[in-house]
Amino acid sequence: MCGIVGYVGFRPALPVLLDGLERLEYRGYDSAGVAVSGPAGLEVVKTAGRLGRLAEKVDAAGRGRALVAATTGIGHTRWATHGAPTDGNAHPHTGCDSQFAVVHNGIIENHAELRAELESRGHVFHSDTDTEVVPHLLEEEYRGDLAAAVRAVMPRLRGSFALAVLAAADPETVVAVRQESPLVVGIGKDENILASDIPALLPYTRDVIILHDGEVAVIRREGVVVTDAGGRPIERTPATVPWDPQQAGKAGFEHFMAKEIHEQPKALRDTIAGRISGDGTAELGEIGLQPEEAARLSKVFMVACGTAANAGQVGRVLVEKLAGIPVEVDIASEFRYRDPIVPPNSLCVVISQSGETADTLAGLKEARRRGARILAITNVMGSSVAREADDVLYTWAGPEIAVASTKAYTTQVMLLSLLAVWLGQARGTLASDQARTLVAQLRALPQQVEMVLSQDAAIRGLADRLAAHEDVFFIGRGIDYAVAVEGQLKLKEISYIHAEAYPAGELKHGTLALITDGVPVIALVTQPDLRDKMLSNIAEVKARGAWVIAIAQQEDDEVATHADDVIWIPRTNPLLTAVPAVVPLQLLAYHAAVKRGCDVDKPRNLAKSVTVE
Ligand code: AGP
Repeated sequence: MCGIVGYVGFRPALPVLLDGLERLEYRGYDSAGVAVSGPAGLEVVKTAGRLGRLAEKVDAAGRGRALVAATTGIGHTRWATHGAPTDGNAHPHTGCDSQFAVVHNGIIENHAELRAELESRGHVFHSDTDTEVVPHLLEEEYRGDLAAAVRAVMPRLRGSFALAVLAAADPETVVAVRQESPLVVGIGKDENILASDIPALLPYTRDVIILHDGEVAVIRREGVVVTDAGGRPIERTPATVPWDPQQAGKAGFEHFMAKEIHEQPKALRDTIAGRISGDGTAELGEIGLQPEEAARLSKVFMVACGTAANAGQVGRVLVEKLAGIPVEVDIASEFRYRDPIVPPNSLCVVISQSGETADTLAGLKEARRRGARILAITNVMGSSVAREADDVLYTWAGPEIAVASTKAYTTQVMLLSLLAVWLGQARGTLASDQARTLVAQLRALPQQVEMVLSQDAAIRGLADRLAAHEDVFFIGRGIDYAVAVEGQLKLKEISYIHAEAYPAGELKHGTLALITDGVPVIALVTQPDLRDKMLSNIAEVKARGAWVIAIAQQEDDEVATHADDVIWIPRTNPLLTAVPAVVPLQLLAYHAAVKRGCDVDKPRNLAKSVTVE
């Protein structure tokens, strides 16, 4: 939801902070700020607006001042929750007398009562944020030991908070706290870096310590000490991140989203690698769930948000068809509050690219509380979801920076497909030769995605026309409907075109009233057993003047006689068309957004990881 960076080392801190914030800008970008500590005390520069404005202000403020010489500092890029994006509400917050600078990611739920209490004791607030209670509490708790003061404040706070704190009296120390919002410490040589997410650390180190809930990190140039909330030291061996800065950069693409769409063949290959047994069937040795336990499963839940939930809808079809287990897909923010009935021997598959989505994490805990075994599918090593689950299947997609999720979706679908095959093998609903055939077809998906990507120019032509419209409809049946739901989300979240997905059979029950001359309808027609019905639905909307773009399997020439335009995908098992079929929808959304001049990687009002409710 917001991005935090911190630095203590031999370099000037400001360039490190600004570079780190730029790498985290996808987490929130309506205001930003930095604080550094130097001989004259704390220097704070902050502003509403994008990072570019902050860099201008820093440059203007830094001329001839200690600002540029400082080697210790913290920074923040904000996605506003409490208080509009204004200069005053931007982080860092410094309290009454600028003895402390604090940046925060999360929500302090009891901020109002704390603020009233502090104001009654004479504290003067300068912002409308929940965060500002922290520096004022530090003013009351500080007795010369910053970490001790931070630990004394922690129990007063309710909610989710990742904090980084600077003190004028301790100019070469940054203290960080992790409570439900992610924080990672990069261990360098004669320098140490703090960030909300790994990409900000990569130019300096790949050795990281992922802080766990309740942990406090005391970060100095010579080293990092991690303690629990009581101050007891915790031994943490740094993990080495398998990414390099190039992977976390744009690698020559105009936008992260374009890069990540085109990285999908590699991401899919990396995700299936090591998960195929010697006899060609699915092998998920990294999970503790045993085949005999899988054979006893009575129900599978899939709990997630947004695109991850859309991947779950595809997973539902596959697990039910291949493993014969009833599956229920729930939006996490609903699941956590609806008193779900979780029968014995239930498996809850929690899907989350970031592994930090607050609602998804809460859904995981609710499913666990009700006795389900938890299997996480996530893209981030050591994320909260990964740590809370009984088993984890990582999508080896590499860092996904663009707010709009693309390679995470296709690799999630890949893993869900492998899981469905593995469950089918374990339960005897899938014979070995059937499993081998499906695994071979899954291994062919990366190449099929490459074939779809080769149509980028033609798809861009359609997108440029689509960009002129304000309403677009997506229709499909079965797996195609699940993919249509993902397609409408992509289009609306980055091009701001209103888009909706409907089960094609549902159109005549209302939505058909909205289909008038020239209205774009994107029809997915990849399911042979539902194809004739889809062709009828295409005829229905064509009769009302719709402009129909079909997504169909190659050689299905009859589709071309019904639709105005067709984007062909390579022929494959109808159960596995979601991955090749979603790529045209990703490209349509991307190019339409570019045509409309939208900020593709950082769409308005959104953030990459929604770590608050
Ligand atoms: C999808 O493009 C969006 N970025 C959003 O719906 C996202 O999928 C959702 O917030 C879930 O994020 P997660 O996978 O990190 O949990």
